[in-house]
Amino acid sequence: MYKIAFNKKIGIDFYIMRIEGNFEGSPGQFYMLRSEDSFMTLSRPISIYDIGDNYIEFMYKTVGKGTQYFSKMQRGDSITLYGPYGNGFPVDEYIDKKVALVGGGMGIAPLMYLAKKLNNPDIYLGMRKEAMSPEQMREIGESYSRYGATYFNIGNDMTEKIDLSKYDAVMTCGPEILMKKVKNLNKNTYVSLEKHMGCAVGACLSCTCDVNGKRVRVCKEGPVFRGSEVDFKDED
Ligand SMILES: Cc1cc2nc3c(=O)[nH]c(=O)nc-3n(C[C@H](O)[C@H](O)[C@H](O)COP(=O)(O)OP(=O)(O)OC[C@H]3O[C@@H](n4cnc5c(N)ncnc54)[C@H](O)[C@@H]3O)c2cc1C
Ligand code: FES
Repeated sequence: MYKIAFNKKIGIDFYIMRIEGNFEGSPGQFYMLRSEDSFMTLSRPISIYDIGDNYIEFMYKTVGKGTQYFSKMQRGDSITLYGPYGNGFPVDEYIDKKVALVGGGMGIAPLMYLAKKLNNPDIYLGMRKEAMSPEQMREIGESYSRYGATYFNIGNDMTEKIDLSKYDAVMTCGPEILMKKVKNLNKNTYVSLEKHMGCAVGACLSCTCDVNGKRVRVCKEGPVFRGSEVDFKDED
């Protein structure tokens, strides 16, 4: 068990939780989080938002009982986490290339650590208008802009405004409709998929989907896949 250093509200239903300890992981990998004091029997998968000296951070959105429970936890509370799991984005392959990161809603979470590890990517973040106050959006935009030019789009379809074809690669996370559009705008797109998860180690098969004509486990072979290999129509 680890101790929460802070659990900060950063939007109407968005939070950042910092947990003390030495952690490892690559951008796009995730941890399984659970509070032993709660009703939770299953841990919840949450992507690495940042890792630093003696801490790990997660950005999460409250959608159901588990994440709502997380949002009430406070500094000093204990939390259990296992990980890192999954494959992550191909950072080493693109370290010297021009990369665009495109995130929508909660999908912006894994892009912070990804931006930190890449070399000055362009970062496109999309958020619905009600999700954060202008001040909160400014603060979040500023934190990403430490690692690359950051563009915040509110409410609109941001894929209409940006030329993604000019990049060597695009890495994206967010609603399926966004990832579908992005993968059609650059043939070298990597998408991070989300599925309900049980074990996170490839044993329970609750997270399978079709990729490149094969049944794969998002927790083990993913969550990051080449966009060209994912048939979004067949998801869910
Ligand atoms: C690899 C991976 C990384 C993730 N990273 C993050 C992250 O960084 N930040 C974050 O906020 N969330 C992330 N998620 C999603 C997060 O795991 C779920 O939102 C969380 O498990 C919901 O738990 P809950 O108990 O609050 O909601 P539940 O009560 O379990 O569900 C509430 C609602 O959300 C839906 N839901 C729950 N889990 C998922 C899911 N995985 N995919 C689609 N719909 C779902 C349910 O169908 C239901 O409608 C990630 C998921 C995966 C698979
Ligand atoms: S969550 Fe059990 S196989 Fe993926």
